[in-house]
Amino acid sequence: MITIEKIIKKKTKGKTLTKKEIDFFVNGYTKGEISDEVMTELLKAICAKGMKERETVKLTTSMLNSGKRIDLSDIGICLDKHSSGGVSDSTTLILAPILASLGLKMVKMSGRSLGFTGGTIDKFETFSANTSLSLEEAKQIANKVGAVILCQTEDLVPADKKIYALRDRTNTVASLPLIASSIVSKKLASGAKVIVLDVKYGEGAFMDNLVEAKKLAKLMVKILRKNKVFACAVVSDMNQPLGNNIGNFMEVKEVISSLKEGKESRLLTLSKTIASLLVSMKENISLNLATKKVDVAVSEGQAYEKLKEMVLAQGGNLDLFKKEKLEFISVNSETSGYIKSVKTKELGELTHELCRIKGCKGVSILKKVGDKIGLGEEIIRIYAPKKYFEMFYRKYLDCIEISKTKTNPLPLIYDILK
Ligand code: URA
Repeated sequence: MITIEKIIKKKTKGKTLTKKEIDFFVNGYTKGEISDEVMTELLKAICAKGMKERETVKLTTSMLNSGKRIDLSDIGICLDKHSSGGVSDSTTLILAPILASLGLKMVKMSGRSLGFTGGTIDKFETFSANTSLSLEEAKQIANKVGAVILCQTEDLVPADKKIYALRDRTNTVASLPLIASSIVSKKLASGAKVIVLDVKYGEGAFMDNLVEAKKLAKLMVKILRKNKVFACAVVSDMNQPLGNNIGNFMEVKEVISSLKEGKESRLLTLSKTIASLLVSMKENISLNLATKKVDVAVSEGQAYEKLKEMVLAQGGNLDLFKKEKLEFISVNSETSGYIKSVKTKELGELTHELCRIKGCKGVSILKKVGDKIGLGEEIIRIYAPKKYFEMFYRKYLDCIEISKTKTNPLPLIYDILK
């Protein structure tokens, strides 16, 4: 007879679990038949001993089967992307209108901010857009506009909901099989058939080891493909914020200007790369041709027009971002040299704290790693009333490390798994 005690013992010895054993603990914990304490023991054993690829596939399937799979086939083949989480990552808000302007469909289920990372839902709601949509409402909008952004439904992979919450409380998040099964089960349940995963590597990401980040990307792509989903992955940098701005209001401002002006930046380049990979897989065309289509959608303004349409369709208003003079505090460098490193996680946390205060809108980071900086030159702009100078000035300044010796800029993309 299978028991949870026997499963824990087996995993503690580093042995491979069977499908029946995996289903036993996933179903047992989801139904409340296994306690948090006992499940934590098993999660710790998995973190320590890992899982074989075939076990991870079984775990993903078992979690997927804990809930309903969303069927999007009535609106056509849908595209999706997933970021493993970072700071100033607004790629979804840029790539969704690009894809929709090219006639493609995206029903994007997203989450809210978690810890130091930002959340697409919070950002999209900055337009006063409604993201609490039923699946039927979302499908109607996707049919009309092409793309829609909505809150993840409550019943999406119930096993992950419970297990992820426990992992968060028990410091058992950092495990390749647990992360892979958590992300992939949700992606499979969301109904998209063409998916790009954006695995973040760096100080401001869950993965701070490049080799592990690449392994995770490869594993997730493999499981998605086994489930007949067209998938590829990028491993991208999170050793500094992706965009120039942090904080929902400021990040959305950057999304608008990126699509309106098409000026190249790390944020726009990564968004266009992910969009191109999706277009290439969906249309079965070369990445070169897909990139050209995506470039035209941005440079000729169709993607910007589509963003306006998306916001309007969800009851939002782009005029909220019309020119408004924002009060700001300049943070100036106390030395000259080169930007050596950026405490990305801390910048994310600090800006969450800042933005909880009424009237504070976020920050602009005016320099990237490798940039030259002069004594007294502005390095960060805090969009907040001047009275908050004392509270934040030094904390922000301390997030940027400057060295006298020249440093190289950071890569944006470390790998693309096509
Ligand atoms: N994001 C998820 O959805 N799950 C994880 O385990 C880690 C990041």
